[in-house]
Amino acid sequence: MIDIELVVNGRSQRVHAHPLARLLDVLREQLGLCGTKEGCGEGECGACSVLIDDVLVNACLVPVGQCEGSRVDTIEGIGADPRVAALQRAFVDVGGAQCGICTPGMIVAASALVRTRPRATPAEIRTALAGNLCRCTGYVRIVDAVAQACGAGESEGGA
Ligand code: FES
Ligand code: FES
Repeated sequence: MIDIELVVNGRSQRVHAHPLARLLDVLREQLGLCGTKEGCGEGECGACSVLIDDVLVNACLVPVGQCEGSRVDTIEGIGADPRVAALQRAFVDVGGAQCGICTPGMIVAASALVRTRPRATPAEIRTALAGNLCRCTGYVRIVDAVAQACGAGESEGGA
């Protein structure tokens, strides 16, 4: 067990954990940030998406020991950005969430897109969200929500 210092959602944190502990577990169990979900636990579904130094990663695959000195942003912290707040509103307006398990990861992944491509096209949105799986929506409303936040209008449709 070691001490690891990192900045989570803008706040300095020191956690005491095995260096190979999953960042996902440290966020949820030590820091109480349960917005980051576990789906597959194997890097396939994107439910655990977070940003490390602005790079989108699956927190179920990241050993917390690799996060020393890093900036970690989770769904709880990214909404202060007005572009992300617009994304969150769009998910509500368009009905982009059903059971909600995938939604935090979708919004974290979409936030990485809108920060770099604020006028992303539906095709770019689909590519950006390709690592995030949803069992409920068929993806159309998710793409529509991100497109609305991008001011890009309706999606191309299809699942
Ligand atoms: S829980 Fe991490 S990718 Fe599925
Ligand atoms: S809304 Fe249920 S998995 Fe996406």
